[in-house]
Amino acid sequence: MDFKKEIAGKISQLVDMEQEKIMELIEIPPQSNMGDYAFPCFQFAKVLRKAPNMIAADLAGKLAQDNVIGKVEAAGGYLNFFVNRAEFMKEILTEVNEKGRDFGASKEGDGKTVLVEFSSPNIAKPFHIGHLVNTLTGSALEKIYRHLGYHTERLNHIGDYGTQFGKQIAAYKHWGNEEALEKDPITELLRVYVMFHEEAEKHPELEDEARQLFKKLEDGDPEMLALWQKFRDLSIVEFKKLYKEFNIEFDSYNGESFYTDKMGEVVQMLRDKNLLVESNGAQIVDLEKFNMPPCLILKSDGATIYATRDLAAGLYRHRTYNFDKCLYVVGNTQALHFKQIFTVLKLMGFDWADNMAHIGTSLVKFADRKMATRSGDMIYAKTVLNEAAEKTLEIVESKNSGLADKADVAKKVGMGAVAYTILKNNRDRDIIFSWEDILSFEGDSGPYVQYTCVRGKSVMRKAGDFPSTADYSKLTTDEEFNLVKLLDGFKAALKEAADRYEPFVITRHVTEIAKAYNKFYNSHPIMNAEPEVKAARLHLTKAVCNVIETGLSIIGIEVPENM
Ligand code: ARG
Repeated sequence: MDFKKEIAGKISQLVDMEQEKIMELIEIPPQSNMGDYAFPCFQFAKVLRKAPNMIAADLAGKLAQDNVIGKVEAAGGYLNFFVNRAEFMKEILTEVNEKGRDFGASKEGDGKTVLVEFSSPNIAKPFHIGHLVNTLTGSALEKIYRHLGYHTERLNHIGDYGTQFGKQIAAYKHWGNEEALEKDPITELLRVYVMFHEEAEKHPELEDEARQLFKKLEDGDPEMLALWQKFRDLSIVEFKKLYKEFNIEFDSYNGESFYTDKMGEVVQMLRDKNLLVESNGAQIVDLEKFNMPPCLILKSDGATIYATRDLAAGLYRHRTYNFDKCLYVVGNTQALHFKQIFTVLKLMGFDWADNMAHIGTSLVKFADRKMATRSGDMIYAKTVLNEAAEKTLEIVESKNSGLADKADVAKKVGMGAVAYTILKNNRDRDIIFSWEDILSFEGDSGPYVQYTCVRGKSVMRKAGDFPSTADYSKLTTDEEFNLVKLLDGFKAALKEAADRYEPFVITRHVTEIAKAYNKFYNSHPIMNAEPEVKAARLHLTKAVCNVIETGLSIIGIEVPENM
């Protein structure tokens, strides 16, 4: 049962307004002493020729207490509703405990497809912290949409194409070490790539060699292709290790190279639609009308670029998936690029480009002096994650040295702490990294929320087998009611997170639940309560752990058994 909907239904029988419209108008009062829901009566004043407070008083008199309404009061033009707490507790807790990890699932996405492109690192290059931000943000959005019933596709638009691969191949052929490549591919590829640039200063002919090798690669030379394929495969194996830490998987790794044979069509379409203009030998789409610099399509040597591949990818995705939404989770630094792509697709007559959106992410900044000495972009995700795991292990060892599986716990807590920091604020805000904040076990942090869940689970373990049902009307305190209200609010949080493309809404909501549980835990006994209350509190604990775990898994955080 949806209490808000029920209340809206009751109001609709008394006023000339549809239930749905009433639903939209119903507010959550700022303070709990003003009720759980409030309905503003101002808009009826004109038609009824009556003051809003009179209307509210009149309506309040007509609404009786029942299984939905515990109490209704008129206050300054508002109708304040207090739900029937006993029923509310029963409804929500039964629903959570029946649905388990599916709590909050909805039908809103039935029959709709959402593509989420995220992560999209470049092969043979280190995966930097910015890619980690995109990875976690995109994965959370995808999981949110999936929870809401949408069919989703997780796309990793790998950067695996471009003239730099001519240099990479040349460098590897000159100085590469196969053993080192197998052992730590990205480090080895980066080593020789850097060497290439150093050597090319002294021996400019290396540049020509790289150009020739790239040409050979494009023409499908088997040796070049095999090398490129090897670099690609090994890079993806590395990326997957990192994805695994956060339980992230992809449905497609089709990257830029996948579109090489699909660009001719796009270029031809642009030409047929008279959108291509020559500019200094290059072919561009003029976007001056839209106050944007031109979108470069073909360089003066006829080579395609990043944008050309994105146009081809857009077309391909529309044909392949017929999406309702196509999201690109990429750093804000590429905002103009995506605006250009969407505008060009619109100019080509593809109205579906309106259903594409760039979900921009912010920069990571490092507050600790030690980290701040390096420039943000050069920080590798692996460095940060390894450091997080190490530092967490130290903390775990000092706090709970007898713990089994310490390394595993430290990893879950360390990764969780990093994910939490990345997803705790809205996407506009720069992400500030400081180890002190990240690894704090209190307040707004990953470990704090994880720990709350661990504690709840340990309470349940200690209780052993408890009855499969409970009388939830035994939960009568404000702390318990507020907690259950927050559990119910998880549904609205999911919807808000999806509508705003903001995973932080989930992060914030699970944190609120954790805080409310701790408040309850610190003010009321569980094990020592009388048997019926104890049973109900154990079920409440189970529901809390369930919703926290569901929310955390959406944002890529696992809960260890102990910590
Ligand atoms: N590989 C790019 C980078 O690392 C991001 C790709 C974004 N996606 C796209 N469709 N252009 O910056």
